[in-house]
Amino acid sequence: MNPTSIHLERPIPALDLLAQYRSIESEIKTAIFEVLESQHFILGPNVKALEEEVSRYCERSSGVGVASGTDALILALRAAGIGPGDEVIVPSFSFIATADSVSLLGAIPVFVDIDADSFCIQPAQIEQRITKRTKAIIPVHLYGHPAEMDAILMLAREHKLLVIEDNAQAIGATYRGKRTASFGDIGCLSFFPSKNLGGFGDGGMVVTNSQEIGARLRSLRAHGATKKYYTVEQGWNSRLDEIQAAILRVKLRHLDNWSAGRRERAAQYDRLLAGVKGVVVPRVANDCQHVYHQYTVRVPKRDRVQKALADMGIASTVYYPTPIHLQPIYAALGYKAGDLPETEKAAQEVLSLPIYPELTPEQVEQVAQALVQAVREA
Ligand SMILES: Cc1ncc(COP(=O)(O)O)c(C=O)c1O
Repeated sequence: MNPTSIHLERPIPALDLLAQYRSIESEIKTAIFEVLESQHFILGPNVKALEEEVSRYCERSSGVGVASGTDALILALRAAGIGPGDEVIVPSFSFIATADSVSLLGAIPVFVDIDADSFCIQPAQIEQRITKRTKAIIPVHLYGHPAEMDAILMLAREHKLLVIEDNAQAIGATYRGKRTASFGDIGCLSFFPSKNLGGFGDGGMVVTNSQEIGARLRSLRAHGATKKYYTVEQGWNSRLDEIQAAILRVKLRHLDNWSAGRRERAAQYDRLLAGVKGVVVPRVANDCQHVYHQYTVRVPKRDRVQKALADMGIASTVYYPTPIHLQPIYAALGYKAGDLPETEKAAQEVLSLPIYPELTPEQVEQVAQALVQAVREA
């Protein structure tokens, strides 16, 4: 096979949000139109209904809509009482928000390595990093694959630590038959447009079974007020708006179908890439259901492979090229290269291929074929 053997009629993007929009355009327009007609834009019936629908979906008793997934994490940490000097255990292989939500509050992120197969935090390494100052663990269900919650919850119980799940990438994934975000004390969601449940702007939600935490979150997202114009503690404005909520309610109705579509595309990639020398396909742990926010392979000479794919018209993405413990923001914490070997290896090797329900089987085939060629020639 030579480099000219792949002919794409049109380039394959990493994500095609326009195709998703076209498939639900009239439902979305009706939902937005209803909000416009109501002129009720902030904390109205759509936010309330979405909070009920998403919390039920996540097997929780309450949900609090907020302005972003980052705010969901910050507010969750605040509601959990995390503050200056506290230590919070986080994976280094994640989006920066998992850690900078901790440091924003004056607490210290303590970075732990990942499991090579799931890309999620390694429970065995967590225990070694627990100190008297440790207050919480934030497992991230990275790429849509659940973290090892049984072991994490056991450690948390033993050491009296809170568990805040970063479920930004995994809405709908299950671990031993239960949905992610339903395990810890608090679950955090992002509705960033590219997420599996994405809005038309920023948005997020915190879900919990604790009435106390739920009430505190409602107050914190509205300037720390417990009733109108009566503030008891420092909060700020972090509200999800009605238009976003109306859009997300439409999309939530399609989410299970879309997740099934993602799984089908993933299964097709798995078949096409099985046994290909140099390509490691994602592994799904026993008793887990992956929602493939990303379909992430490992390849040698990753940057060359990515460039070759781009030259063939195929977009791919690297989540994440620099582990958080090695980013300048945390230089003062004193981590160095080699501290978290699995994280650092993953950062060199991972490549996320296009995956979305609107991707056609032919396109999956083209991507797989192009990847095989790119790896062979890298
Ligand atoms: C793992 C993870 N945590 C947190 C966030 C933050 O979410 P947002 O972009 O909505 O603030 C994201 C998304 O970008 C994420 O992928």
